[in-house]
Amino acid sequence: MASQQEKLPLDTILCGDALDTLRSLPAESVHLAITSPPYNLDKPYANHDDDLDYEEYLDWMGEVWAATKRVLVPGGRLCINIGENKRQNITEPTYSAFIRQLVDLDMLYRGTVIWNKHSAAKHCAWGSWKSCSNPHIVPRHEYIIVFSRDQFKLDGDAPSDLTADEFMTATRSVWEFGPESRKRIGHPAPFPMELPRRLIKFYSYPGNVVLDMFGGSGTVGLAASELDRRYLLIDNSPDYCRLARDRFEKEHGLFQSDVPDIITIE
Ligand SMILES: C[S@@+](CC[C@H](N)C(=O)[O-])C[C@H]1O[C@@H](n2cnc3c(N)ncnc32)[C@H](O)[C@@H]1O
Repeated sequence: MASQQEKLPLDTILCGDALDTLRSLPAESVHLAITSPPYNLDKPYANHDDDLDYEEYLDWMGEVWAATKRVLVPGGRLCINIGENKRQNITEPTYSAFIRQLVDLDMLYRGTVIWNKHSAAKHCAWGSWKSCSNPHIVPRHEYIIVFSRDQFKLDGDAPSDLTADEFMTATRSVWEFGPESRKRIGHPAPFPMELPRRLIKFYSYPGNVVLDMFGGSGTVGLAASELDRRYLLIDNSPDYCRLARDRFEKEHGLFQSDVPDIITIE
């Protein structure tokens, strides 16, 4: 019988809705999912309204986590990158709402990484400089929350490709590297290659399948292929799917015949 991984359209970009596409994939076929979903902060995405009613947004995210859990192998990992809330009328931080949703799905919480982006940020709204009347904390960080399905241990016998230094760096709970440039990549919210690189090396064996269900400009796929993992990218914008495909050609120097196919999911 074909393994679940052999039933996947490996090393491709699936152009379609995240939920519909996830539901079309075989169960228990993915070892590691790494994603940064839309943050619902009104980013100008090509094919998504990033200003949903907050409850509607959370309901949608909850469905995506459940659909992702189904495709993970036992011991498979889910890493979600999410920023700090910028809107003051939200009472619970989004990363904490996500943790609650995943714990309710019986996913096992592994921990949280604080990604220190070292970003320049404005330190006061007009009139609030050095005032204690209503000062705000200005986020320079984002979160990566990490879960396992069913068990903490991931079975596999391929030797790890982590160096001692990489292992030490990955085990620390604060990760330090700068953000990616939107202009350079041509996408409203790309994360830097270092983010999936670390997660892939730390949480998967060479040869494993890595998924990003909000694949954007394809950063997770690029990092996975560089590190000898198989990948699957999903995005509902044909423009971003083409952008991701072009990055394989430009940044990986792949020949046209080796760049990933884009498969349209109706
Ligand atoms: C934060 S971005 C991901 C960026 C990615 N990590 C990168 O490095 O380029 C979120 C992505 O989700 C995609 N998206 C939004 N709604 C979607 C949906 N319903 N199904 C699939 N993708 C969706 C957007 O097009 C966008 O590219």
